[in-house]
Amino acid sequence: MAKIKVELKDRSYDIIVGCDNLSELGELVRSEKWGRDVFIITDPLVNDLYGDLVRKGFKTKPKTLEVPRGERFKNLRVAEKLYDGLARYGAHRDSLIISLGGGVIGDLAGFVAATYMRGIDYIQVPTTLLSQVDASIGGKTGVNHPKCKNMIGAFYQPKAVFIDVSLIATLPARELRTGLAEVVKYGVIEDADFFKFLEANAHHLNTKAFENEDTKRAALKLWQTIVSESAKIKAKVVEKDEREAGLRMILNFGHTVGHAIESLTRYRAYNHGEAVSIGMVAAARIASRLRLLETDVVDRLKALLDKLGLPTEIDSLPVDKIVAALSIDKKVIGGKVNFVLPEKLAKVVIKDDVSLSVVKQALNEMGGQ
Ligand code: GLY
Repeated sequence: MAKIKVELKDRSYDIIVGCDNLSELGELVRSEKWGRDVFIITDPLVNDLYGDLVRKGFKTKPKTLEVPRGERFKNLRVAEKLYDGLARYGAHRDSLIISLGGGVIGDLAGFVAATYMRGIDYIQVPTTLLSQVDASIGGKTGVNHPKCKNMIGAFYQPKAVFIDVSLIATLPARELRTGLAEVVKYGVIEDADFFKFLEANAHHLNTKAFENEDTKRAALKLWQTIVSESAKIKAKVVEKDEREAGLRMILNFGHTVGHAIESLTRYRAYNHGEAVSIGMVAAARIASRLRLLETDVVDRLKALLDKLGLPTEIDSLPVDKIVAALSIDKKVIGGKVNFVLPEKLAKVVIKDDVSLSVVKQALNEMGGQ
């Protein structure tokens, strides 16, 4: 088990990374004396898969509140239903919420925890690779508004992030890959050795390794390292800039073009990690066109993402429409589009003056029309 501290003064907490440890969460909550009573917020599929395992560890069984599965249910109406459920069960200022699920559940349950009775304690128990390495860490909570994703929310840190890497072995291949895009991102923005480690181990980072018990154990060890290293990098960035006043923006590497592609294709053609993968290659190509980055880093990034089975080309999407979608992205500040651009591995800069013609050239290079 690894314990990574997120140092945020009185809001500090541990990220606990273990394997087959879901049933130990109850003991942790008991020993830390968190919550007079406990409520699990989850979705029906995750509840079926892991709910009993989590509840088993508690002497007094937590009440479970289910919300339908999917990003479209991350909204104020569903949050209100959760407030109703908590109130019906008599949840109070000293109750504890456990968010059990992927990024959607984490954002929604965190938002409910941040706002119910002006804020009650919560623990993130992320069940997908994407949420284990990214969304569960750093206290971003929120719901969508019809006009914009994550428009309503709060920075509200959990009491702990509790990760069971064995859950990775149950993920479909595409879900695994979407998380890997964020893992690669950490290597590029902060840690060249981690990037090299991913290059050396890329052939093991797929669902094949989970097909038999011998290779599964070895693979889960590797995943434990990957999740812990990713969590360390994210924690370090969040510690320096909890509320995204500056540095935390580097976590958006690949997300500028990535978000434009997601919204242009209505969140259907590409999942988040796939869009970020294309966005990272686009950002690297832009950096290389601006002579900030050597082309061999662009090639290494593309080769790693290709090996992991992530998309690195644009598949004839219209370049003009991607560029138009960039300007409605929420990262537009004062009419400018922010790009996180690598200068070398583990060194990035944020630029808000990239000319759209350079963006277009980079996207054309990637097969855009
Ligand atoms: N996912 C980006 C952040 O937490 O800031």
